[in-house]
Amino acid sequence: MPALDPIIVDPSPVWFADGYALRAHNTFGFDVRARYACRIDSESALTDAVRDPRALGLPMLVLGGGSNVVLTRDYDGLVLLVALRGRRKVREDADAWYVEAAAGENWHEFVAWTLDAGMPGLENLALIPGTVGAAPIQNIGAYGLEMAERCASVRAVEMATGAVTEFDAAECAFGYRDSFFKREGRDRYLITSVTFRLPKMWQPNAGYSDLSRALSEGGLTGAPDARAIFDAVVAVRRAKLPDPLLIGNAGSFFKNPVIEAPQFDALLAREPQIVSYRQGDGRVKLAAGWLIDQCGWKGRALRAAAVHDRQALVLVNRGGATGADILELAQAIRRDVEARFGVALEQEPVCL
Ligand code: EPU
Repeated sequence: MPALDPIIVDPSPVWFADGYALRAHNTFGFDVRARYACRIDSESALTDAVRDPRALGLPMLVLGGGSNVVLTRDYDGLVLLVALRGRRKVREDADAWYVEAAAGENWHEFVAWTLDAGMPGLENLALIPGTVGAAPIQNIGAYGLEMAERCASVRAVEMATGAVTEFDAAECAFGYRDSFFKREGRDRYLITSVTFRLPKMWQPNAGYSDLSRALSEGGLTGAPDARAIFDAVVAVRRAKLPDPLLIGNAGSFFKNPVIEAPQFDALLAREPQIVSYRQGDGRVKLAAGWLIDQCGWKGRALRAAAVHDRQALVLVNRGGATGADILELAQAIRRDVEARFGVALEQEPVCL
């Protein structure tokens, strides 16, 4: 097993000048500015930043990779740029490895590192843009796995008091693209690290249709190992989802809506092809990408804001779009989906 990196603590807070450009800090690539921005590379840097006289009375925004945010205007406050680094195996017992990663670690690199270190379990979540610290906020999920299923605890600092709290998975109140940190805890906490529980009795999770297709197309016949799943997820994502480094986007722009069974039955009678997933509680989840696609929006644009041509759930900045352009496009899509299917689409990224 390769050597495990320690959590690195660098106590120096770094202030940036007034009018800090946020273009490189949001994956849509919107050209907006913050009144102040501060690089947070340790818990003490955070304490110093929030007590700094320049921060007094200002609103604060925590930005990790900026992969789940729509910045519609300049931010008249203090942006905390999360740059805490480090990852390590904390402990292991007979059943699992416990691995902690600092909030500023790149998510995909962290997933790759756990595999290289012989601790599989996160491979279905390969290539999701963003940082480790952002992962619990919207409970990232893909190809049959949500991070909630691997989360042991989340360490966070309450910004108003500086108090450090360790939330166990139950306290995080994870839901579909949802958590305590997106609701009651919103704007209150800065997540500093996440600890994952990776079971030693590893089981492949390869049932998601796109994933099993990619595995069989790759010539795999027997049970896949974690590396094969990782590679297949990377291949599927590269084929369908735009790389934010090449074309600005925030992944799925809408959540897949969940509706009650009677509403679904009525809809199915009218739309027999509808893509749906029955939930444990009898409700039905619909594929928002399919709904949007059926309304003819795939590949269409409104000025420089467009619907991705290979996955209608993703809105993209073709270059020079503003947050307002994206919101206008989203509104037009919402209106058409509501008119045809009677279903309201809820936006996934946070809007500022
Ligand atoms: N579909 C279409 N047209 C489209 C897009 C999708 O007909 O333009 C159909 C597909 O053919 C498929 C169904 O809709 O039958 C579902 O599509 P897909 O498997 O691509 O997944 P999704 O439900 O659209 C969700 C997540 C993605 C995640 C994938 C795979 C949400 C909001 N999105 O998308 O997450 O990668 O499943 O697990 O739950 C993200 O959150 O940013 C994200 C990309």
